[in-house]
Amino acid sequence: MQPALNSDLIALCRKRRVIPVLTIVDIAHAVPLARALVEGGLDILEITLRTPAALDAIRRMVADVPGAIVGAGTVLTPAHAESAMAAGARFLVSPGATGRLLDAAAKWPVPLLPGVATASEAMAVLERGLTFAKFFPAESAGGIPALKSLAGPLAGLAFCPTGGVGQANLAAYLACPNVVCVGGSWVAPQALVDAGDWAGITKLARAARG
Ligand code: 3PG
Repeated sequence: MQPALNSDLIALCRKRRVIPVLTIVDIAHAVPLARALVEGGLDILEITLRTPAALDAIRRMVADVPGAIVGAGTVLTPAHAESAMAAGARFLVSPGATGRLLDAAAKWPVPLLPGVATASEAMAVLERGLTFAKFFPAESAGGIPALKSLAGPLAGLAFCPTGGVGQANLAAYLACPNVVCVGGSWVAPQALVDAGDWAGITKLARAARG
């Protein structure tokens, strides 16, 4: 299953509803962490390009965790995207949506989920024919009231709110009609990762799925 279009990502994400956002510091954690999340029912994984281990983490998860759909996050430039795709990323996520990134994304074989926080940014994404965006940073950009306000005038855009989403507000976000799924790091707390508590992470993933 290879999503090619931004709109194809919607179908994938609608089934899972939660995308773990993972920042891998120690490469040894990459595969067991991905396995723990897949075991808990969360198989779409966003690996942020914020650490030296990130690209290798993507490569290893793609090679060794066959059930995982691995993408790259924190894609700030076309060069980041090229490296991530070469590592095997099947989708790309950016915190914002620059013209340069959107122009380049039109030519990529994997979809981009661009970040938006305002109506103007959302319109710029819609102008490119994209119908699915990350709403970032969700909680500090207005949270659920902001998503509800955007739903009327921007009915053609579906969102993945990320940033400040957790188990406590997950259900409320998912109840918004224009929210397809949410993203967040809460399912893989650094303390559990450092402790190698993979069963604990599987439990958090199951709770998020539930
Ligand atoms: C990020 O890119 O850092 C994500 O938005 C994750 O945010 P969170 O840590 O608040 O879940």
